[in-house]
Amino acid sequence: MGIDQEPASQWAAVDRAVEDWLAPADDALHHATAAATRAGLPEIAVAPAQGRLLQVIARSIGARRILEIGTLAGYSAIWLARALPAGGRLVTLELDPARAEIARGNLAHAGLADRVDVVTGRAVDSLDAMITRGEAPYDLIFIDADKESCPQYLERTVALSRAGTLILVDNVVRRGRLIDANTGDAGVDGARRMMDMVAQHPRLEAAGIQTVGAKGYDGLLIARVTEGRDASASPAHGARPSDPLDISLAHNAWATRELLRACMKLDAAQWHKRFDVGPGSLHDTLTHIVGAMLRWADRIDGPPRAVRPSIEDSTQRTPSELLVLLEAAETDLAASAGRARQRGLETALDVTLGGTPYRFTLGAMLTHVTTHGMHHRAQCLNMLRRLEVAGLSDALPELDVLEWHARA
Ligand code: SAH
Ligand code: DHB
Ligand code: MG
Repeated sequence: MGIDQEPASQWAAVDRAVEDWLAPADDALHHATAAATRAGLPEIAVAPAQGRLLQVIARSIGARRILEIGTLAGYSAIWLARALPAGGRLVTLELDPARAEIARGNLAHAGLADRVDVVTGRAVDSLDAMITRGEAPYDLIFIDADKESCPQYLERTVALSRAGTLILVDNVVRRGRLIDANTGDAGVDGARRMMDMVAQHPRLEAAGIQTVGAKGYDGLLIARVTEGRDASASPAHGARPSDPLDISLAHNAWATRELLRACMKLDAAQWHKRFDVGPGSLHDTLTHIVGAMLRWADRIDGPPRAVRPSIEDSTQRTPSELLVLLEAAETDLAASAGRARQRGLETALDVTLGGTPYRFTLGAMLTHVTTHGMHHRAQCLNMLRRLEVAGLSDALPELDVLEWHARA
């Protein structure tokens, strides 16, 4: 074989050689591949050299908790689970119950059943349930399911991350189609929207690499979750602040999160029921609180940063989708507050609201966001009480600062 060969067969030949050198299949990997073939599954598992790459990365960062989205027959899961130290865990999400069952068999055959959970269902639903339960953050996340859902997976996996978590996304390049806006392919469009989100995300720093090999020409996104755009200016994650402004911001996000968690117990009719209070429904009021946090984060930074489009145009979000947005808003607002403090809270900015020009100090704007949230949370508590949901309307969450201090 030589460089005059067809590129694709050259790539595959080199991949086979790398596999022989560095990633030879053992009985468990052979067994998994054979079971996938027997079941007629598509041949879309990672190549051996890629499985080995995932494993080396997982070991390098000392990953103890790994999350995979897209199990298929458990081939990549075997590579990842083998990277875990004693007591480590891999959770892998699969839509198709038959595939999940094959994967469980393959993982058991590999002696990994005790450290892997194969969770059946739509990955978005599984992720929302994990966020709602307040699961501990993952160290490494491998996204490799339906490509059109990559934007939803990205937001949710950031919510399941800590500073330092690594998020890898498979198949982002797709023979170069990534840069074509007009393929009409939902998977390509999903990858493109995800790249936009990564580029703008305040908590991600990312690299994209193009790859060739046994699976042709494709690519991998490697994103690292950070503390946020300006972590040095905001209090350390987990530390309980003592500064009144930091307390107000942390309490505002916490209390809104508590309300959204309570709203997860509602059915859609209750979540959207109209009341003659505030913006009119729990959905609309909580969307308004989070929307205002995002808008004021932009306004507090001031020009050249533009005020982003309102999220209040959608009437369709679930409480868990709002939880994801809230997480982004909290980080963004904390970063804006850090920069505002550096500029001086007495700094005044011109702001136009509903066509009327105003001039506000940064201190006033920051105080406004948190008192605005409190005002509307009181309306939410009123709606929750009037819904008369057993176990909820009679046990409304305590949302004051003392409760935050006691529990946060
Ligand atoms: N990571 C695997 C390959 C995964 S292939 C490996 O390298 O070995 C992608 C898998 O994602 C398929 O099995 C498919 O059934 C699953 N999938 C597709 N849509 C999904 C969804 N909405 N939720 C969960 N899994 C999904
Ligand atoms: C496909 C999915 C994958 O995860 C992959 O690695 C290659 C192809 C697919 O759906 O076509
Ligand atoms: Mg893949």
